[in-house]
Amino acid sequence: MAFFKRTIKDVPLDRKTVLVRADYNVPLSKTGAISDDLRIRASVPTIEYLLKHHCKVVIMSHLGRPEGRDASLSLKPIAKRLGELLDHKVDFVDDCIGDKVARAVKKAPQGSVILLENLRFYSEEEANDEDFAKNIATSTAARYFVQDGFGVVHRAHASTDAITHYIPSVAGLLLEKEYVTITNAMGKPKRPLVAVMGGAKVSDKITVIERFVDIADKIIIGGAMANTFLQYKGHHMGASMVEEGQEKVLDGIYTAAHKKLDTSIEDFIVLPTDVAVAHEAVEGQKRRNVKLGNLAKDDKALDIGDDSIERVAEEVAQAETVIWNGTLGYAELPEFAHGSARLALELAARPETTSIIGGGDTADFVLKWDGHGGESFTHVSTGGGASLELMAGKKLPGVESLLDAPR
Ligand code: 3PG
Repeated sequence: MAFFKRTIKDVPLDRKTVLVRADYNVPLSKTGAISDDLRIRASVPTIEYLLKHHCKVVIMSHLGRPEGRDASLSLKPIAKRLGELLDHKVDFVDDCIGDKVARAVKKAPQGSVILLENLRFYSEEEANDEDFAKNIATSTAARYFVQDGFGVVHRAHASTDAITHYIPSVAGLLLEKEYVTITNAMGKPKRPLVAVMGGAKVSDKITVIERFVDIADKIIIGGAMANTFLQYKGHHMGASMVEEGQEKVLDGIYTAAHKKLDTSIEDFIVLPTDVAVAHEAVEGQKRRNVKLGNLAKDDKALDIGDDSIERVAEEVAQAETVIWNGTLGYAELPEFAHGSARLALELAARPETTSIIGGGDTADFVLKWDGHGGESFTHVSTGGGASLELMAGKKLPGVESLLDAPR
């Protein structure tokens, strides 16, 4: 599928001032260090393209969810890391609107890169405030707006929506790549298509699971979400985390699945047959493998069990496309990351299989596991909520607001 929006390649932006929305909402360590720079690395191709075209590049982003100014969520450290990755000076301005920004942009020569301070220091950003967006447009005097923050396009904020009312707006290379890769994998996958869904809650992923019931050849359920499925199926889950009140939702999923199937439902929605348990999800706890039906009252299921891990590996070996969203266990602790690690290993060992890794926690996990910046997989998404919404088939406000592609 060709992308349906205009991109930086469709407009004459040579030597112009270009405003780029990136998503530099990166995970930070307790000391404030950048613990994963995937989103910063992913923004580089668009910036390099603009520099090659002698643009003045002004970048804006949010970081975290501050309430007003908060020094611990300043984008200054991002400017440093971006400069290293680009091997190009990045000037930082400690505001995103007003005179300071206007002066900095005016005096910067063509070929400069300027990063503005965290947009969310102003509540107007999330309120999608027109005046705030107009202020950004006027302060930066940008001739084009480039949306390249794929991770944030599911939000209708001033820097993703209202801004497009003031500057001609096109997509960047990351946004185009994310959108086309994910949409193609969902729309016309090489089959069999196996969806692997993990993470904590059914309710977070319900629309995506429903979509997979329609389009996937198999759905593997893991993570704490599997506990909710297993309890629904009548299994005693001990002290495991289970999301209550999901019976109707699961009824709906199973009814839809039954309608499309001529094989057994257990071969379509694949649940764990055993789990790894401990009494607490804390460091130092040993994993114990338990078959379903044998969980003690105080056992917490924290990973899929050994037999289930083998089953996942077998299913993945037969797949042509694997879309994975959500870790299969409590992967912050190595003892309970076995299922996720094995899945990552199986995918990395099969470059001929199209592997799409959803953003957020799953991306964090595979990047730490992989050690090659995610290159062992076909695509590691920079979007958490955005990739889920795109997979669910929802419209993304930050994409819809851009100029349509020329016919
Ligand atoms: C994300 O990390 O999913 C995006 O940067 C959006 O952040 P938000 O959930 O705080 O809006």
